[in-house]
Amino acid sequence: MSAAESSTPDIKIFDDPEEVARAAATRIVEIADAATRTRGAFSIALAGGSTPKRVYQLLASDAYRDRVAWAAVHIFFGDERSVPPDHADSNYRMANEAMLRHVPIPLPNVHRIDGVGDVAANAALYEDELRGYFGGETSWPHFDLVMLGMGDDGHTASLFPGTTALNEQRAWVVSNWVEKFDTFRITLTAPAINAAAHVLFMVTGAGKTERLPEVISGSHDPERLPSQLIRPSHGSLEWYVDRAAAKQLKDEE
Ligand code: 6PG
Repeated sequence: MSAAESSTPDIKIFDDPEEVARAAATRIVEIADAATRTRGAFSIALAGGSTPKRVYQLLASDAYRDRVAWAAVHIFFGDERSVPPDHADSNYRMANEAMLRHVPIPLPNVHRIDGVGDVAANAALYEDELRGYFGGETSWPHFDLVMLGMGDDGHTASLFPGTTALNEQRAWVVSNWVEKFDTFRITLTAPAINAAAHVLFMVTGAGKTERLPEVISGSHDPERLPSQLIRPSHGSLEWYVDRAAAKQLKDEE
């Protein structure tokens, strides 16, 4: 069964990365507002990589900052690299510099993944942290929103092609050996992501042009294209894509 046969993907195409970032920031504010109004809290797992940085900057800017009830926001991370939090490659550092340190979020509401030391132990600790927040008895975490990017090779979070994490059916968080970078990453698993209320992919740039139609409507081959594993069981799945990345999508003229 191809990905296209199972559901109609919700893809929004914008002119450029700036438009994608603005639309994503607006959508995050909307989802955060609904969650805080109904439950008094909003949980979000952030993506790393370069695309979301602008979104985080926007959320911390005058135009957006006051539209978020920061005291009710809980920040989590979809994945982390094996580096300290002040390292240039740290997803936490990127989010902190672009957004977290500029907004009035209480420190205990920022739940970062420890990238230093034993990766398996750190993955287990992060799962404990999630269980503490979502309730240890639930079978999966229920994030209000998981933000994701997609790599040129079809990976998402730190679910890379051909890696063991792709087959994980029980753990919420795992350490994952990524041969091509010769390093471990720590990542949410696909079932943990798929339990979210909303999942938002942001994909920009010509580097993604070829892979995007394969992931969205190509034959189902998640070992090669891990982004295909992302199919929320009850939640929404939205793709915010710029024109360059969308160039080879069927509906693009
Ligand atoms: C990471 C990620 C990763 C990222 C993609 C896309 O830590 O690198 O979370 O999955 O989202 O690699 O990255 P870009 O936005 O930089 O293309």
